[in-house]
Amino acid sequence: MRNHLFFFSTDTHPSPFDINIALDSGFDTVIPYSSVKEEQTESLTHDIIFSRGPKGAKKSAIFVGGSDVELAGRIVAKATASMSPPFTVPVFADPKGAYTTGAALVAKAQKAAGGLPGKRALIFGGTGPVGQVAAELIASAGGVSVIVTSRGREVAQKVADAIAGRCGSRVDGESAATEEERLALMKSADIAIATVKAGVQVVSLKGLASLGRDIIVADVNAVPPAGIEGLAPHDDMKQIAPGVMGIGALAIGVVKYKVEVGLFRAMLESGSSAGYKECHELAQTLA
Ligand SMILES: NC(=O)c1ccc[n+]([C@@H]2O[C@H](COP(=O)([O-])OP(=O)(O)OC[C@H]3O[C@@H](n4cnc5c(N)ncnc54)[C@H](OP(=O)(O)O)[C@@H]3O)[C@@H](O)[C@H]2O)c1
Repeated sequence: MRNHLFFFSTDTHPSPFDINIALDSGFDTVIPYSSVKEEQTESLTHDIIFSRGPKGAKKSAIFVGGSDVELAGRIVAKATASMSPPFTVPVFADPKGAYTTGAALVAKAQKAAGGLPGKRALIFGGTGPVGQVAAELIASAGGVSVIVTSRGREVAQKVADAIAGRCGSRVDGESAATEEERLALMKSADIAIATVKAGVQVVSLKGLASLGRDIIVADVNAVPPAGIEGLAPHDDMKQIAPGVMGIGALAIGVVKYKVEVGLFRAMLESGSSAGYKECHELAQTLA
């Protein structure tokens, strides 16, 4: 019996990125469904779990992706609630690549910092999917100060409050619309993470050189220009200015790739489901 992965995407075009990784990880077939809505999830899930019997269910799995992170979360919940033993299949979600990327980013940063408790972490562009996952994972470590930034203070605070509500730890929101504002925040941070839209520079090399403090910076943007000037994609704890140690997008991307492969294989080998917490657990072993 062949291994089938059913790919529920919130987008009109399920991502070839995830399809390639799933096939390379060992699935025999990936069956994509586009523009999936919450209300279609139960009947799709029933058709998957009941069509091949309990043995077939063990050879079936669901991946949830797409750009609508909030909808993807509801689809995961609906799919999971639509199953009952022995008709169950694993569900792995990675909407917009945010779970695997946020997890890899945090794992790299926490390793570089020698752990998170006692640290002060800044997430530039923390209102986006990757930034929100990163902020929640860092805040969940406990005993760490987390600030998410946005170009608008109100948006930053709203997102910070939502993250704090999910993880039960304090998260603050700040405006960081200009480099001046960003550098002012960095002057009291131990870790600064850039998760802004691709191709947007967050801080200049001159600005970094003016900080005069030890800080770890990490950037997930692989589209030039770098979010953090002077940081090359493969840099992995490279000094890019006095006291400033940097982790680049591809150093993080390698871990992200291994996490996605590892979790697809775990679906195949042990029927394991995964969300961003499982991504982070695995990322910490790979960073
Ligand atoms: N390396 C990897 O493996 C990998 C995988 C996936 C994603 N990524 C990268 O991760 C980053 C974040 O992805 P995402 O999907 O979370 O990002 P996103 O939603 O496109 O953007 C994140 C935030 O950036 C801010 N932003 C947008 N335009 C801006 C501008 N012109 N100047 C300053 N800030 C701006 C917005 O915040 P406000 O509107 O609140 O200011 C937005 O919420 C991207 O660079 C993406 O390419 C990397």
